[in-house]
Amino acid sequence: MLNILNHPLITHKLTRLRKKETNTREFRETLEELAGLMAFEITRDLPLRDITIETPMGMCNTQELAREVVLIPVLRAGLGMVNGITNLIPSARVGHIGMFRDHQTLEPQTYYSKFPDNLASATVMVLDPMLATGGSASAAISFLKEKGAKNLKLVCVVGAPEGVEKIRRDHPDVRIYLAALDEKLNEIGYIVPGLGDAGDRLFGTS
Ligand code: PRP
Ligand code: URA
Repeated sequence: MLNILNHPLITHKLTRLRKKETNTREFRETLEELAGLMAFEITRDLPLRDITIETPMGMCNTQELAREVVLIPVLRAGLGMVNGITNLIPSARVGHIGMFRDHQTLEPQTYYSKFPDNLASATVMVLDPMLATGGSASAAISFLKEKGAKNLKLVCVVGAPEGVEKIRRDHPDVRIYLAALDEKLNEIGYIVPGLGDAGDRLFGTS
């Protein structure tokens, strides 16, 4: 259920995200590009349905996407992945879930949610660059399941083994996509080597 996306361009762009000298503008651009590259792999198993259309030359039996796609960025940092994917799937609807980690307990706190009404029938992709303890992603997925989502994918850029294990345990039905699986979490729950605080780097806060 874990897919680590190996592609030279993905690796190259992730390296740029990791570098501490990468500024906010470059970080934002690169995260969007990286999410776009990941989109090819995360959409590989989307179901198709048969249709017959007419081309200028005649009839053609072909296929189109059978299911709608819903993107759920986890605020804030997941926002940086949305445009890269909607560039490829312009029809995707976008819901939002606001979560932050309590810095003492590392427990996720939900402060906002707004979802489209087609969660039950759609392929729902939860977007968050960082899968650290897995608390935020697991809580977001549980919340979406309560709202009816059934076909869920978790799309992150960097993951820690602890986070992957938590999602496997809590949500064995959810496929996880990562650009890289890093070594560990440090004592304050940051991924090492990771890329630092994704939300702060994306929005220029600290
Ligand atoms: C970061 C990140 C994830 C979460 C990962 O968000 O974007 O949502 O931490 O950590 P976890 O796997 O241990 O839950 P943060 O809480 O810093 O909020 P922000 O995006 O608003 O900065
Ligand atoms: N959230 C981040 O933004 N970075 C980490 O390394 C862990 C959690």
